[in-house]
Amino acid sequence: MSIIKKIVTFKPSFTLRVIVGLISVVGFLSACAIVGLGDLTKALGVQDAKYKARAIEAGALVYFQQCARCHGPEGKGIAGQGPALSSITFLGKVENGVEVTKSQRIIDIGWVGNLDGYIRAVTAAGIPLKSSNVWDVTHPAFGQAYGGNLRDDQIADVAAFIENWRQAPYTQGVIDSPKPGEALGPRPTAVPLTPEQEAGKTAFAKYGCTACHAIKGVSQGAVGPNLSTIGADAANIITQPGYKSSQGKATTVAEYIHESIVNPNAYIAPKCPTGACVAGIMPQNFGTTIPATDLQNLVAYLSSLK
Ligand code: HEC
Ligand code: HEC
Repeated sequence: MSIIKKIVTFKPSFTLRVIVGLISVVGFLSACAIVGLGDLTKALGVQDAKYKARAIEAGALVYFQQCARCHGPEGKGIAGQGPALSSITFLGKVENGVEVTKSQRIIDIGWVGNLDGYIRAVTAAGIPLKSSNVWDVTHPAFGQAYGGNLRDDQIADVAAFIENWRQAPYTQGVIDSPKPGEALGPRPTAVPLTPEQEAGKTAFAKYGCTACHAIKGVSQGAVGPNLSTIGADAANIITQPGYKSSQGKATTVAEYIHESIVNPNAYIAPKCPTGACVAGIMPQNFGTTIPATDLQNLVAYLSSLK
């Protein structure tokens, strides 16, 4: 029998026909399922995005009504009142839905859950003790289960609003929570600040000095010199030959600090956190952008740090 004839006269057995039939039915169904699921996933994705957008919108309202007074309208933090929530240290960073930088805060405090869980936990239950005496207030407990006024869904919404900042968190000009190790250090000055010094402390945050300069218990900037004892350091610097041979003209602590702010290149401080200080890093225009009273207050505040 020729091969051709064999094929033409081939009669599949009953079992074989059942198997082939089953395979095609299953194949057809799977193809339908894959196409259908694709559409469904897409639809769910759109739903999910819409749902998220609504949560963020609702969360914004909660944020401005209940959180902004301590954490600032842009989430940059307010000295003494509350840390930054829109900072890269707190939030890390997300690009195109992918986390590219982790939250350093979560690592520092050893939180075992994720960032969302931390935000919701603090918001709902509060922080019973101030974790650091840089804060003048303790954290309110907002959750209804904890005696507050926010429902669980509102807490989830405000967390979604805060986490939405992960796409563009601030890297400068923010007041982050102090690291746990530094948390209970003494306040920078033992004596209470005078109103002028207090205003200077506020100006120190307002003009973004905090981003580059650390002051114990106040800020953690690590670009320029640590200013925790600048009042004492300045007294020493102006007596040094290195200062006398520079363009610096100060003869008092206040004059030195004033000069450092309005004419930073007159004398370049020797020691910065990452090595020798470099000219031109500190903004050169504070002399024109900071009003005279704020300048005076800044000088009064910094001079008091010894
Ligand atoms: C009365 C001022 C105040 C209000 C209002 C407030 N917070 Fe806070 N918040 C703080 C302080 C102070 C801290 C730091 C407390 C500490 O570490 O002991 C803090 C810390 C946090 C942290 C942890 C930050 C970190 O660096 O670990 C989160 C998250 C937070 N607040 C969320 C919120 C949300 C959301 C709201 C609004 C529903 C809110 N807070 C309202 C004062 C406030
Ligand atoms: C972009 C970073 C940056 C910002 C913002 C910044 N500084 Fe500086 N600052 C530096 C650097 C770097 C130096 C050291 C180089 C020099 O002496 O000019 C310095 C030096 C100083 C010194 C002298 C320190 C010493 O040990 O002699 C003082 C005082 C000072 N800054 C105060 C301020 C104040 C107040 C502000 C806010 C109004 C401010 N800085 C904002 C980077 C910055």
